[in-house]
Amino acid sequence: MTRPNLRLIETPEVPAARAGEPAIGIKALTKTYRTRDGDVPTLRPIDLDIADGEFVAVVGPSGCGKSTLLKLIAGLIEPTSGSIEVGGKEVVEPPDDVGIVFQSPVLLAWRSVLANIMMPVEVRKLDYASHLERAKALIKTARLEGFENKYPWQLSGGMQQRAAICRALVHDPKIVLMDEPFGALDALTRERMNLELQRIHFETKKTIVLITHSIPESVFLADRVVVMSDRPGTIEAIYEVPLPRPRSLEMMGTPEFSALAKQVRSHFYAEGGID
Ligand SMILES: Nc1ncnc2c1ncn2[C@@H]1O[C@H](COP(=O)(O)OP(=O)(O)OP(=O)(O)O)[C@@H](O)[C@H]1O
Ligand SMILES: [Mg+2]
Repeated sequence: MTRPNLRLIETPEVPAARAGEPAIGIKALTKTYRTRDGDVPTLRPIDLDIADGEFVAVVGPSGCGKSTLLKLIAGLIEPTSGSIEVGGKEVVEPPDDVGIVFQSPVLLAWRSVLANIMMPVEVRKLDYASHLERAKALIKTARLEGFENKYPWQLSGGMQQRAAICRALVHDPKIVLMDEPFGALDALTRERMNLELQRIHFETKKTIVLITHSIPESVFLADRVVVMSDRPGTIEAIYEVPLPRPRSLEMMGTPEFSALAKQVRSHFYAEGGID
């Protein structure tokens, strides 16, 4: 059996972005939460360049700082030291060209599904009519047709998460940050959403950062899989996924796919499990 073309880049070597200016440039980034009970060192220095149009998946043990990393990129919290650039500009507030799917859907209870999805358009004062068409197309893709006028509490958890994904994409951001977006979905819907996300990435060439607890999902979707260490988290390894695109679900049964998933998984067995 031939070994797949695995390329492991161990830190501290900084993996280079593929071409041109990175869409996201992270330099010596650290985060320590200051709390009443003392400091919580959460991220050790992280260096990572993500190329324009690249799909990066981040996996790591629970509590290692994945959501923290995503919130830093989204400009929602401040770094303790180091810097983040999005589109060549230092992040000091949430950049316009970024869409985010949070770990829990955080929909506004008093707004309908459609009004929730249109939030980024309103906040950014974009053209309502053209984006309404886009919202409707996304609603169709996410199989939420007929639920536009319902309220979030009238939806299942998975449906709420799908609405949150529509909201992240409605203003057509170049960069999409997703924090375990499919965690609440049943296996079949999750597979369908994986295929849909792959299609969106393929067709729109968006830059996507996806946090996931699913190793197969990370290998299936990503160009590179970033493995983080326990808290205070840092990059432990980065794997390139050289599988051709578009990828089919059947590909998950191939020896190449299994070997890649095994490599990523080996980090967690060494440390006692991913969760
Ligand atoms: N606002 C905050 N104040 C203080 N500590 C925080 C805050 N947010 C997160 N932390 C701490 O930082 C650490 C990392 O949290 P984070 O949510 O980034 O982890 P995670 O890798 O996303 O975990 P999970 O996989 O369970 O979602 C945890 O120990 C958490 O308790
Ligand atoms: Mg998290």
